[in-house]
Amino acid sequence: MHPMLTIATRAARAAGQTIMRAYTELDRIEVSSKGINDFVTSVDKEAEATIIYQIRKSYPDHTIVGEEEGENRGENKDYVWIVDPLDGTNNFVRGIPHFAVSIAVQYKGKIEVAVVYDPVREELFSAVRGKGAKLNDFRMRVTNVNELTNTIIGTGFPFKARQHTESYMNILGEVFPQCADLRRAGSAALDLAYVAAGRLDGYFEIGLKPWDIAAGDLICREAGGTVTDFTGGHNYMASGNIVAGSPKVTTQLVKIMRPLLNEGLKR
Ligand code: IPD
Ligand code: CA
Ligand code: CA
Ligand code: CA
Repeated sequence: MHPMLTIATRAARAAGQTIMRAYTELDRIEVSSKGINDFVTSVDKEAEATIIYQIRKSYPDHTIVGEEEGENRGENKDYVWIVDPLDGTNNFVRGIPHFAVSIAVQYKGKIEVAVVYDPVREELFSAVRGKGAKLNDFRMRVTNVNELTNTIIGTGFPFKARQHTESYMNILGEVFPQCADLRRAGSAALDLAYVAAGRLDGYFEIGLKPWDIAAGDLICREAGGTVTDFTGGHNYMASGNIVAGSPKVTTQLVKIMRPLLNEGLKR
């Protein structure tokens, strides 16, 4: 196994334990607000500290960027660990059992290793660049569909980026009649992992952060999927506007979106 995948897996499982321990006594969790509709708990922070500790034991000089701690600089800036300790905080605090730990390792700007771990179902989605994607020990593949008919498409509402509500609703209004059904499950990392596993045929969301999508991006691509921004370009890590799916589904989704994009979404 790739040595960094071993460490990423160990860190994700350790954070998963921290999260699940807290999940059994949710009424004791402190929730605070970081901004409009943006919540954080003591568990997000504790899980991130667990991950940083595990990474630092093996790679003391790597750089780590986490959602809660920000950048934790190491001497070595070629390696950057991108960490979302708890993706799906809103589900977690309400006792909805759908959230994950997301860890990706970038080397010179390219994601090399990725792990998305669902501690409730004990499902570990992983990928190494050029080596394919796995769910636990089994290889994953995106679905093989040519059209949107019969597809299930995942999405997320722009609940923090409300300025995009109108464009988003227009896109949704065009996508919904063409597919079989939609899902808004509440964890971007798992949405991407589910596309890789063939549980969803496609997925799109606006205004995400690198830690929401870095691991899911590699996992999806290594499972044969295509990941783009809303114009079909490659700027999604910077813009946070992401479309993923089997190559044909991604193309179909982008085709629907293109004429409906406001200026902020054309990147
Ligand atoms: C959120 C989840 C959610 C998405 C949000 C993200 P968090 O991450 O991925 O599905 O719609 O935009 O911020 O804050 O729970 O780590
Ligand atoms: Ca958050
Ligand atoms: Ca997140
Ligand atoms: Ca988070």
